[in-house]
Amino acid sequence: MKKDVEKEKQLAAKEAVKYIKNNTIIGLGTGSTVYYAIVEIAELVKNGLKIKAVPTSNATQKLADSLGIPIIDINTIDKIDTTIDGADEFNKDLMLIKGGGGALLREKIVASMTTEEIIIADSSKKVEKLGKFKLPIEVIPFASKYVQSKIKELNGNGKIRFAQNLPFVTDEGNYIIDVDFGFIENPVELSHKLNEIEGVVGHGLFINLTKTVIMGNDNEIITFKK
Ligand code: 5RP
Repeated sequence: MKKDVEKEKQLAAKEAVKYIKNNTIIGLGTGSTVYYAIVEIAELVKNGLKIKAVPTSNATQKLADSLGIPIIDINTIDKIDTTIDGADEFNKDLMLIKGGGGALLREKIVASMTTEEIIIADSSKKVEKLGKFKLPIEVIPFASKYVQSKIKELNGNGKIRFAQNLPFVTDEGNYIIDVDFGFIENPVELSHKLNEIEGVVGHGLFINLTKTVIMGNDNEIITFKK
């Protein structure tokens, strides 16, 4: 029987929200799974939960604002207590591919500042090996051709992401190159190599940034811990 993906997302989101404590700073990820968590958090705020939120994208900021979740400027704080975010893929070591929604740069910064990063996902996101989902790489537009040639040297096949016939522009004013590397045998090594390319400002491999993935699977919740 076909799985109800939306139900799985909702289940994971509801479970993740239980990790949020009163009087804390929380990070809000981006995407269709996190949407459900944000709606839940707004309900808790209405009922008295005291939190301040750092959104990872303009879209999330708009949604949080519209639902009455208090926002705090990331540049006024030293750390974030708990972040709830989504992922495009995760493996058994809780390494992730993120960036399908184009918010990977802020998401990675927020994850790096977070004590407890919680990833929520439906069951389609769990993979044996990362790489079926094309790896998003954020580049400054000036360097996009150069970066593409360096990606080729790493055996990747990259295409600039388009939206409505124009290059997709991130919240930080950059382009995204979606790269097919095939199955990624060594995500750590690839992550380092990509970080070394001038013009790359971020990429969607998240290594050692989460210790908890909460996955909806049919009617149940599976929590993966590292
Ligand atoms: C955005 C992301 C998202 O978390 C990822 O794309 C998953 O999105 P969704 O929950 O809609 O499947 O990394 O940059």
